[in-house]
Amino acid sequence: MKILIATEKPFAAVAVDGMRNVVEEAGAELVLLEKYTEKAALLAAVADADALIIRSDKVDADVIAAGKKLKIVVRAGAGYDNVDLEAATAAGVSVQNTPGQNSNAVAELVFGLAVMMARNLYNGTSGTELKGKRLGIQAFGQVGRNVARIARGFGMQISAIDPYCPEAVMAEAGVTPCTDLKQLYAQSDILSIHIPATAETRGSIGHDLIAAMPKGAILINTARKEVIDEDGLIAALKERTDIKYAADVAPSRAEEIASLFGDRVFFTPKKMGAQTAEANINAGIAAARQAIAFLTAGEDKFRVNK
Ligand code: 3PG
Repeated sequence: MKILIATEKPFAAVAVDGMRNVVEEAGAELVLLEKYTEKAALLAAVADADALIIRSDKVDADVIAAGKKLKIVVRAGAGYDNVDLEAATAAGVSVQNTPGQNSNAVAELVFGLAVMMARNLYNGTSGTELKGKRLGIQAFGQVGRNVARIARGFGMQISAIDPYCPEAVMAEAGVTPCTDLKQLYAQSDILSIHIPATAETRGSIGHDLIAAMPKGAILINTARKEVIDEDGLIAALKERTDIKYAADVAPSRAEEIASLFGDRVFFTPKKMGAQTAEANINAGIAAARQAIAFLTAGEDKFRVNK
């Protein structure tokens, strides 16, 4: 059995060591393809792999077709919008994710970004504090819940919206449920986005929501760039010169947005939310275990394609 780890953005070495142990203890072989720059490298490497472990790497129909022996793709992480689920299903390939394994790392980054934006990118001017501010959490999944936990320590007032999460779960976390998205934006000094990129959510956050935010608000996106309507974002930031935007991974029009809005915006050059040793170990080892459990025992608990 050959398990290919293909990561354009590599895991920490300590995570790869742990994954290698899991794979070799099961009598399988681990193959590593890191920092590849061409899709051709992935197509060649996947040709004889039984399992493919990836991060945000794009697994499209070509990659699935090139994986002649491929039985499973594990996305070591939460969001699987980078995998062509239909192509995988048609080829009889299981696609799994590792929910929750990197969520604390992403949630901690939300506060790294929040403090940095509240302090004007540490540019020497006077900023604001998080204590007492109203935090809105858009989607109360694993990351959203970790954000709420940390926000309590900052002394924030926390509200969240999530049609899929029972209000009792929010109440137990000390979070006020909100059922109207525009209302959540209108009342949040800091709004943190945690929705996945799906057909319904792509481009769903635009001018009307952003311009509804209160004076001096900060919008933080550690989810996906695709959920933002960039024309709407630019229009809202032009109209509301008090609003700031920080995102973990640059928007498509990053240069234009940065030149228009200077210190009011900040973007990480690569997706950094899950880029910690701990998250890499948690998600990487979970992915390796899931790949082995599927190949040896058909374990399909975390399957995301039908
Ligand atoms: C996720 O969906 O798990 C996060 O966005 C992390 O993505 P990454 O593995 O590319 O860092």
